[in-house]
Amino acid sequence: MNVVQTLPTPGDTSWFVHDRFGLFIHWGLYALPARHEWVKHNEQIPDEVYDVYFRHFDPDLYDPRAWARAAAGAGMKYFVITTKHHEGFCLWDSKLTDYKAPNTPAGRDLLHPMVDAFREEGMRVGFYHSLIDWHHPHYIIDPHIGPYRNAPNRDEMNANRTQARYAEYLRGQVRELLTEFGQVDILWFDFSYPKPDGSGKGREDWQSEKLYAMVRELQPKIILDDRLDLPDGWDIKTPEQFQPRGWVMHEGQPVVWEACQTFSGSWGYHRDEASWKSIDQLVQMLIDTVSKGGNLLLNVGPTGRGEFDARALDRLAGLGEWMKRHSRSIYGCTQAPPEFKTPRDCRLTYNPETNRLYVHVFAWPFVELHLEGFGGKIEYAQLLNDASQVAVQGRPDWQSHFGDVGGDIVTLRLPVQKPDVTVPVIELFLK
Ligand code: GLC
Repeated sequence: MNVVQTLPTPGDTSWFVHDRFGLFIHWGLYALPARHEWVKHNEQIPDEVYDVYFRHFDPDLYDPRAWARAAAGAGMKYFVITTKHHEGFCLWDSKLTDYKAPNTPAGRDLLHPMVDAFREEGMRVGFYHSLIDWHHPHYIIDPHIGPYRNAPNRDEMNANRTQARYAEYLRGQVRELLTEFGQVDILWFDFSYPKPDGSGKGREDWQSEKLYAMVRELQPKIILDDRLDLPDGWDIKTPEQFQPRGWVMHEGQPVVWEACQTFSGSWGYHRDEASWKSIDQLVQMLIDTVSKGGNLLLNVGPTGRGEFDARALDRLAGLGEWMKRHSRSIYGCTQAPPEFKTPRDCRLTYNPETNRLYVHVFAWPFVELHLEGFGGKIEYAQLLNDASQVAVQGRPDWQSHFGDVGGDIVTLRLPVQKPDVTVPVIELFLK
């Protein structure tokens, strides 16, 4: 059966397109203000004021094994952690800066135990690393982003800064990350914003080509995102906080892609945000992503005490409850071959290895579900949650009385009551 072929990638994406579902973690000093990881920029907080969070960062309840269990329980297969976010604070014991977890009340490297814990749960390891840095003394302050973007003395502040020294620091830290933690499966740089007048930041500011060469030399198989401002060399496209309409394309070609999404809008822990997505929405989002051939990287912002808060645990548990019975329609699955038309209110996924097709029903219909393009192709059908048979009929006789439904329609006979699961799935064994 014809499934979409993507452009070949320099890194190893074979496991990635199988596993489909990962956990993003945004954790840094911004967990303390608890009002967005961009707080330093949003409120234009100078270093000496922001420092209060450095002095009080004390995640005494931090238990990375609990995080890893929560992620594995939700059905996630890999994780991506912010080794450093835009604020510049580092979770590991970098030799190149003092601005790191061991120098806070936390008093230790927080990254190694996390990597170990997730590996123990059988999960792959990804590092998010911010290109942007609002703390480094050689990072040139530009007029667009950062706490000092509007500073009247910006030029003065920049007088002694040499961006190339920052680029060297960036490379040095990435070298640490790619040599001190064993195999790293994903590297997620964030982000470039080049401007035509040269005032933003892009490949020249990061020395992206040098950085890229080093990354591929140290970890040739690593999966690299697309935010270094390089025309090629990346492995994945990374749409953020929206669901693409279809398979993500680059210059007319389908590519490997991963949507990244939050529970509530902000990535870092946000105490007061009320826009939390429901379990229903999140399960639908995961399905929708895989039905378009993509991966979903879903984010948790742990608290300053070092925990996933109750709202996050609730969503992860809900996802896990669904995944327990339905992961077969996610792992190893991709967009269905084009001859199968997606019925109204549904999403299709397809596993080319097992030749099974999955109909995810977002709005439960009344008894009959009509499938177009499926005529003569179904060997057996069942509800995935309980393996109960679903009757498959050719076009019922009465349809001739009510007008032609057209094409090669097959009708599934469903129970009147929606199965008691977030999104019911019908598993079709194809001939
Ligand atoms: C952004 C934001 C950010 C977040 C990231 C995740 O570009 O700067 O805070 O880390 O997207 O995709």
